[in-house]
Amino acid sequence: MKNSKKIKLRIEPLGKELLVNKGTPLKDIIFEYGVEFPCGGEGTCGGCKVKLLAGDVKDPGKHEELNYKLGLEPEYRLACISELVEDITLEIPQFESIILADNTQFAFIPRENYGIALDIGTTTLVAQLIDLSTGQVMAVQTSRNPQTRYGSDIMSRVLHGLTEEGSAELKKLIRDETHRLVKLLLDGKDVTLKKIVLVGNSVMHHLFCGFNVQPLSMYPFETTNNKSTEYTSKDLRWDLADGVKIIFARPIASFIGSDIYAGIIASGMDKNPHLTALIDLGTNGEVVVGNNEKMVCASTAAGPAFEGANIHMGMSAMSGAISSVSLSNSQIDYHVIGNQEALGICGSGLIDAVAVFLQNGALDSGGALANQDERLKIGERVYLTQKDVREFQLAKGALSAGLQILVNKLGRTLSDITRVYIAGGFGNFINLENVVRLGMLEIDEYKIQKLGNSALIGAKMLLFTDDYSFENVLTKIEHISLDADENFQDIFVEKMFFTE
Ligand code: FES
Repeated sequence: MKNSKKIKLRIEPLGKELLVNKGTPLKDIIFEYGVEFPCGGEGTCGGCKVKLLAGDVKDPGKHEELNYKLGLEPEYRLACISELVEDITLEIPQFESIILADNTQFAFIPRENYGIALDIGTTTLVAQLIDLSTGQVMAVQTSRNPQTRYGSDIMSRVLHGLTEEGSAELKKLIRDETHRLVKLLLDGKDVTLKKIVLVGNSVMHHLFCGFNVQPLSMYPFETTNNKSTEYTSKDLRWDLADGVKIIFARPIASFIGSDIYAGIIASGMDKNPHLTALIDLGTNGEVVVGNNEKMVCASTAAGPAFEGANIHMGMSAMSGAISSVSLSNSQIDYHVIGNQEALGICGSGLIDAVAVFLQNGALDSGGALANQDERLKIGERVYLTQKDVREFQLAKGALSAGLQILVNKLGRTLSDITRVYIAGGFGNFINLENVVRLGMLEIDEYKIQKLGNSALIGAKMLLFTDDYSFENVLTKIEHISLDADENFQDIFVEKMFFTE
């Protein structure tokens, strides 16, 4: 074990007390609680600031300089660069702040009562209780999606949901867990709840609503219902006051769910006259490109490798996963989530590892191992195989080709893109320099911006609308099936090569 000494972490105002391994990066813990990292952990925005109530964190000795630059009082630390080394109590101001510090793209009109925004992820659920008069986050709850017992990847859920029995089981699991989170959010609070907005990928939407997932199991992977679905608490048999509106926002098409739709709203790309793109690397590698007049979107089959699927020692981004790899004096250095023994490698670690092996010559630009008899060793027990590198190349090729084809559809070029927003939890932790170096995105690094949990931010924004006028944005979006594009195969093969 790297370091098994436990320390106590108390998070206010959640009142949550956790035992964590000494040396664990703070961001590994609080991201799970819905904390967003607006600049992706670059230490430049201050959005992840935490207030020390007792104890201190360890940081790279930069906090005085950064606090001064960002105008923070001395008792604040940036969570993205902090390590937990002693018993500590922290207050997380993000739970009390206005929905978006930047209101140029979203100005909400305050209203009475309370709302709940819920991001139903394939792996994790995050729920926030919002005071609709101020936009303040009053409470946060997270949990693991209980459907994971039927497989961690999206296709295993679809397969389990093909039978009537399986579908009913998955529906009950997710509805019960969502209900539990809502009750926990309201526990002990004298508030009037008005609305709950749920967002999630198309499969999560269909399973929650009880729609047939069979068409999502085979080509051309269609949804059976593209409507926002509204419930009363009675419909769901939830123990809530009458009059609470519960809405699962609609998918866009195929595997492009309302998590992406919420991301479009959160990024403001639907209002931007310039060409921008939104990319979610989780699950299916969804890509949207366009501006305030027209957008095109596609799912690129880039997701599985980045979620650890099909990778020999792949795993999701959880304790024990190597999440970053670098070269230091020609030696391979790596970080393990939860500061414990490395058990496998997650998507962000995979990207870094491939970049490192290209850099030290263990891989050539075609992705072949210099020594075919060897494995690419990262940690004591963790390594990549030739097949893993090929899986990575397939994912990279699919993503990069997807973006190229969508840009072509709009009659534009990659250099016309003024900004690329990276959505989703996984995107938050990837090393952008390596993403660009490997040619996963052929875009200048300064144009790429990490959005954090954009699905949750978008769901919060939807709480402030009274009708379905927000769905107007969907009339501007065209879904493209990449397989049907005659140039896809050629572009895909070309993009599988590395650029350095
Ligand atoms: S400063 Fe930590 S996420 Fe921006």
